[in-house]
Amino acid sequence: MYSEKVMEHFQHPQNVGEILDADGVGEVGNAKCGDIMKMYLKIEDGIIEDVKFKTFGCGSAIASSSMATELIKGKTIEEAMGITNKAVAEALDGLPPIKMHCSVLAEQAIKSALLDYSKKHNIHIDGLEDVDFEEDLHEHAFDEE
Ligand code: FES
Repeated sequence: MYSEKVMEHFQHPQNVGEILDADGVGEVGNAKCGDIMKMYLKIEDGIIEDVKFKTFGCGSAIASSSMATELIKGKTIEEAMGITNKAVAEALDGLPPIKMHCSVLAEQAIKSALLDYSKKHNIHIDGLEDVDFEEDLHEHAFDEE
């Protein structure tokens, strides 16, 4: 049911923890399953120098957060904004359809942390104004199928 990559990132997640002096912190949750994901970013000159996460959730959410942190580390803010939940799922060699919403949580966590960064530093990040953090993630996941 789960790809080897999902199992690998679930059993040995990368970048777990927190960054005490983070430049941006984002927290998102899924109301239906109750899972919570928190993401910390260290940003210098528009580059994501470091990223850590804490996920209280299912295995797919943990694997998705781990992969998402790997995908955005060393990237620009613009590149991180372009990471979709589908990109996270593809990098994991796929997730079962009913688990796609777990990858949505990872995309939202990145954007939530970037929103916090943009507010603290009073900068504008293109695309953030379109993000609806309150959207029903499960419905969203099924809509995409
Ligand atoms: Fe909710 Fe995976 S079951 S994030």
